[in-house]
Amino acid sequence: MTVETSHAIAELRRHLDRARASGARIGFVPTMGALHRGHVRLVEEAKRVSDVVVVSIFVNPTQFGPGEDFARYPRTLPDDLSRCEAAGVNLVFAPEALEMYPQGDDTRVRVGKLAEPLCGPHRPGHFEGVATVVAKLFAIVGPCTAVFGRKDYQQLRVVERMATDLRLPVTVVGVPTVREPDGLALSSRNAYLAPEERSRAVAIPRALAAAHASFAAGERKASALLALVHGHVDPVATSIDYVALVDPVTLEPRGESRDLDSPTLLALALRIGVTRLIDNTVLGLDEPPAPGFREVGT
Ligand code: PAF
Repeated sequence: MTVETSHAIAELRRHLDRARASGARIGFVPTMGALHRGHVRLVEEAKRVSDVVVVSIFVNPTQFGPGEDFARYPRTLPDDLSRCEAAGVNLVFAPEALEMYPQGDDTRVRVGKLAEPLCGPHRPGHFEGVATVVAKLFAIVGPCTAVFGRKDYQQLRVVERMATDLRLPVTVVGVPTVREPDGLALSSRNAYLAPEERSRAVAIPRALAAAHASFAAGERKASALLALVHGHVDPVATSIDYVALVDPVTLEPRGESRDLDSPTLLALALRIGVTRLIDNTVLGLDEPPAPGFREVGT
């Protein structure tokens, strides 16, 4: 028995209407496929808070810029369906592009201030594409609890804002990042890393862990924390889009000293080879990203 898979909106809605009619609460996990343990963790959370879990699998063209990895983004539907089945997913929605963006498509959800910092300037149009497709998915799935990973922290904030502003009947939940034993955040894009690049990537969780340790030891200077992170990632990164300390709610930049007394989001985006990786941690709130890691000499 394979997991029930709909490619058409009308068919998915029939399944969901039936489930709701019998009193079921719907949990929803939007994905672009290439599912890994991080997605399974999102499904687990959805199962915890609902009765019927839907996973969408759609590589959304409008959130990729020119020259980004839309064409080579891993598409692994048969494996994804097996993973969904093993994880106890009830319904998969795997539409073609025309089902999501009909002929003549001419409508986008414009995101405001939350799209401006961090990834915003480096991926123009990205959050508009995300907000548009997620708004469509929320409209298709209907009232539900939707579960997102906190690795894509800015995306989570954008989606929360969009659901609130558009008055969509969706509760948005964020789940902590799932990591490899060495601390690297799970991501479908890790599959692009050559073995030597994968070894370099461990500098990312180490950088975040070092900032955590320094923050826990009382460091409150943004410049010192940023320098510490750069000390880890600069030698391994091919290029760095940003390393930033921002307010975890507004995503506005945090300055020196007293600003950092409340929880602060430390976020970064960099390339190793051609692979763009992002990661983050909330200083003063989250667990350290690489619990086994200690600075040499400490
Ligand atoms: O995080 C993702 O996989 C995508 O950005 C999402 C939320 C499924 C929208 O395409």
